[in-house]
Amino acid sequence: MRKDKPSNTAYKVAMNIITLGAKPGMEKVLPPGIVEATEQLLLASGVAGATSIRWSRSRRMVSVYEAFDWMMPGQFEAFAHRKAFCERQVRDGIGAGATQVLVLGAGYDTMGWRLAPEFAGVNFFEIDRPATALLKTKGIKAMGQRDNLHLIPEDLGMRKLVDVLKANQSWDQTAQIVIAAEGLLMYLPPEAVRDLFFQCAAIAGTGSRIAFTYIGTGADGRPDAGRWTGLVLWILKVTGEPWLWSIRPEELDRFLEETGWTNAPELAGSTGRKGVEFFGVARR
Ligand SMILES: C[S@@+](CC[C@H](N)C(=O)[O-])C[C@H]1O[C@@H](n2cnc3c(N)ncnc32)[C@H](O)[C@@H]1O
Repeated sequence: MRKDKPSNTAYKVAMNIITLGAKPGMEKVLPPGIVEATEQLLLASGVAGATSIRWSRSRRMVSVYEAFDWMMPGQFEAFAHRKAFCERQVRDGIGAGATQVLVLGAGYDTMGWRLAPEFAGVNFFEIDRPATALLKTKGIKAMGQRDNLHLIPEDLGMRKLVDVLKANQSWDQTAQIVIAAEGLLMYLPPEAVRDLFFQCAAIAGTGSRIAFTYIGTGADGRPDAGRWTGLVLWILKVTGEPWLWSIRPEELDRFLEETGWTNAPELAGSTGRKGVEFFGVARR
């Protein structure tokens, strides 16, 4: 992932969401308003033009995605489930008393912008590398700023999460929070993932939760993308966005315990694997 350029994977996820909006039946899975808000954001930020958006929301594009689904079976639709999973976690977490939501590696995700007016008493924070976050800030300004949505342009590889949040005047260090790390962890080196969970534990009050997605480790020790793992990993590497971290689901309990969390599959609802990703939830 080039650090000085807007994230290509964030762009791909956003375009995927728009195309999923054109697939019959996906409206039952996708969070309400997500397709329209994503289109608006990509246009307003200049991340995508009207022609690409129009093409993305066509049935023909659905067929293109489906034609390539053999490489990572189920992954096209999995993005809809992933978005629904994170939003469910955030809504449930707020329902259980959280007053802050922190989205790590937020990319062009629109959850904060969509939910901020509905939950006026909750502060939403998003962190992404400056190149991506600044483009998004431009888009959000054009779409309508939310007083309780805070976009923070920071590279978490360069500055500690704890320090980033301490420096933010709106951040309440004692609050119960929900953290979302969607489609992020596989791109970080193992030591950075461990450190990130430690830091998240340090900023999360009792009752907080973290929702995340991850890639499982295969029998050969590599991130497991299914039958075509070798090809997928090679493509990711040559396109500059290699997967660096994965974990076996049966090792998650221990990893979370060691980093200050308790695995909470009971909070996750329908977890398990969707496409090539697993969904996880842990609590403090
Ligand atoms: C695959 S995208 C996912 C975006 C979003 N979570 C979604 O699912 O729509 C991964 C995001 O993580 C961000 N990211 C990766 N490493 C990061 C770092 N060290 N600090 C902050 N953001 C990072 C990228 O810029 C990118 O926007």
